[in-house]
Amino acid sequence: MEQQALKENAGRAAAEALVKSGMKLGLGTGSTAIHVIRRVGELMAEGSLSGILAFPTSFQSSIACEKWGIPVYALNAKEIGGSLDLTIDGADEIDPENRLIKGGGGALLIEKLAAYASAAYAIVADESKLVENLGTAFPVPIEVIPEARITAAAALEKLGAAVFLREAVRKAGPVITEHGNLLLDIRFPFPVDSAALETELNGIPGVVENGFFTRIRPVVYIAHTDGIIEVRK
Ligand code: A5P
Repeated sequence: MEQQALKENAGRAAAEALVKSGMKLGLGTGSTAIHVIRRVGELMAEGSLSGILAFPTSFQSSIACEKWGIPVYALNAKEIGGSLDLTIDGADEIDPENRLIKGGGGALLIEKLAAYASAAYAIVADESKLVENLGTAFPVPIEVIPEARITAAAALEKLGAAVFLREAVRKAGPVITEHGNLLLDIRFPFPVDSAALETELNGIPGVVENGFFTRIRPVVYIAHTDGIIEVRK
């Protein structure tokens, strides 16, 4: 089965199993989470779901909500009040304890805000995202303020990481995040303690957020090539 079909299977399965009418719902970013948004929109259009209050985690998911007729709210809106019933999102890497790397799509800052503001958290992914150790293959994105580009990179190199400024595609220069920041993608040549690093990396001056998600253990919907959707808690 093609990877795109796997992503669609995982996204649709999680939306159908987990989303209930009246939920305050965080909606993630990326090529897998987009299928969750689409399925929620379809279920609303056919009358199986109602009263959804959505908080999209990026411009991409906000535009998808607009397309599929899902009403969106700010996290600070009084209807949402800073807490969500459920967030469903994608991931770049998932370890055996369901700890994650996220931010391949550059939306880690708001994705983490949604994850940690949610009573329940679910991840949708195809099986290629499963790894033994986080951070040695897929790089961990670090969002930094532009002024910290060199100092933060130096601090990250001191921890043993290789550091790459994320370059934009079809725009000269670096990626600028939705909050006006830069992304440093870092890769460790050795296994790391992701839970300790999630805290430690944010202590570097100028770091806004990092892509380790270790303090919330999601339920993970993993689409396998044989058509099975594994639900891993
Ligand atoms: C967006 O910033 C990311 O966290 C995505 O959720 C993650 O990169 C997974 O994306 P795909 O589903 O496109 O692989």
